[in-house]
Amino acid sequence: MSLIQLEEVGSTNTWLKERCERLCDGDAVTALRQTDGRGRIGHTWLDSEGMLPLSVLLKAPPEIETLTLRISIAVCRTLEPIVGESLSIKWTNDIILREHKLCGILCESVAKCDGLNVICGIGVNLSQPEEYFSAAGIPHGGSVKSLVGAECDRLSLARQLAKAVREYSEKSFADVREEYTRRCITLGREVRLVGASERICFAEGIAENGCLICTDESGCFEVNSGEVSVRGLLGYI
Ligand code: BTN
Repeated sequence: MSLIQLEEVGSTNTWLKERCERLCDGDAVTALRQTDGRGRIGHTWLDSEGMLPLSVLLKAPPEIETLTLRISIAVCRTLEPIVGESLSIKWTNDIILREHKLCGILCESVAKCDGLNVICGIGVNLSQPEEYFSAAGIPHGGSVKSLVGAECDRLSLARQLAKAVREYSEKSFADVREEYTRRCITLGREVRLVGASERICFAEGIAENGCLICTDESGCFEVNSGEVSVRGLLGYI
């Protein structure tokens, strides 16, 4: 397994996707600058000097439906010793420190003749100043440096993250569901489900398949992250 380092790339996810047949399970790529980063549900992921982009190639990982949830735990566990505080997860896979988004995760599947490959992309806000996030119109964003003043080595962090991603991609969700539930900041509050339409409900729990278990006046129901994203009633969380 190797970590490829690039000076500049459009998107580390796209770079890996285009080469996955020639690369090995667990290979990863990072870059100093990412000029065309992609986020969930078609959003762009802003480039900035202080952001660490990393993508890891997983060949035919088990339990794909819960993969991003397991990767979220891997990211929390890797970043916690650096920030010195517990990290939370906004369902499904935003990593949260002090109600600010520290990191986003985008897992994409691509079927090739060698089977199903999953590209697991992670963007960590490492050292952008606080003003960067307000100027960029993302006041709920925060970096390791802006929130706790910590610094860390990009390459060493990229290596640690890639290792943790590989480790958690092999785990069963049944074994980490309790930890996910404990970390999930979405639970136990009223939220707005945003998809084809909007719906307000109470977020109750996490199902065995990673779906969000919700209740409203019509009863109990489950939603998956392909259908909806979640917003707080008063803001991002
Ligand atoms: C999100 O919308 O929260 C997910 C953002 C994921 C961004 C990362 S940065 C590395 C990788 N390459 C991309 O183009 N996107 C992901």
